[in-house]
Amino acid sequence: MEHEFTSISREQTIALGKRLATLLNLGDVVLLTGDLGAGKTTITKGIANGLNITEKVNSPTFNILKIYLKGDKPLFHIDAYRLEDDKKDIGLDEYIGEAGITVIEWPAFIKHLLPEKALEINITHRDLTSRNITLKGEGHYADVVNAIAKEFK
Ligand SMILES: Nc1ncnc2c1ncn2[C@@H]1O[C@H](COP(=O)(O)OP(=O)(O)OP(=O)(O)O)[C@@H](O)[C@H]1O
Ligand SMILES: [Mg+2]
Repeated sequence: MEHEFTSISREQTIALGKRLATLLNLGDVVLLTGDLGAGKTTITKGIANGLNITEKVNSPTFNILKIYLKGDKPLFHIDAYRLEDDKKDIGLDEYIGEAGITVIEWPAFIKHLLPEKALEINITHRDLTSRNITLKGEGHYADVVNAIAKEFK
């Protein structure tokens, strides 16, 4: 299942994240791809918001992994950007497909750690305030994409 729509504002992308939070289960993995500044962290902020996480979510670029345990479900936010060319095992696998929702920015840099199935979200710039967002998934993730497709057109 695949769905593409245009988000016309940061707020709409946050709303998408919030809605996703209600559809995702423990163990689910979300892969966020797209150019620098496309809105990957913005969607993650929406997911955190939807999970009632009150801590500020920002880019974990310098941390690689940020863990939020105080919401309705644990959220693991991975930004693999700095792992480019670095295949070292730093134990990230413990936070993928386990007891939380895992959101991964720049998943291409940790291909060897990714599960077979995930919700794939690609974001590309259209202009200053709008983005093309494509969601793709199979099995349970197809249900998630279907639900989003009904509300984000
Ligand atoms: N429709 C939109 N959806 C999402 N973000 C938008 C939109 N319009 C404008 N923006 C702005 O674009 C920027 C997106 O930044 P964000 O940090 O989410 O990108 P990113 O994909 O995580 O970048 P990086 O690759 O550096 O991690 C924010 O400043 C946000 O306010
Ligand atoms: Mg980011």
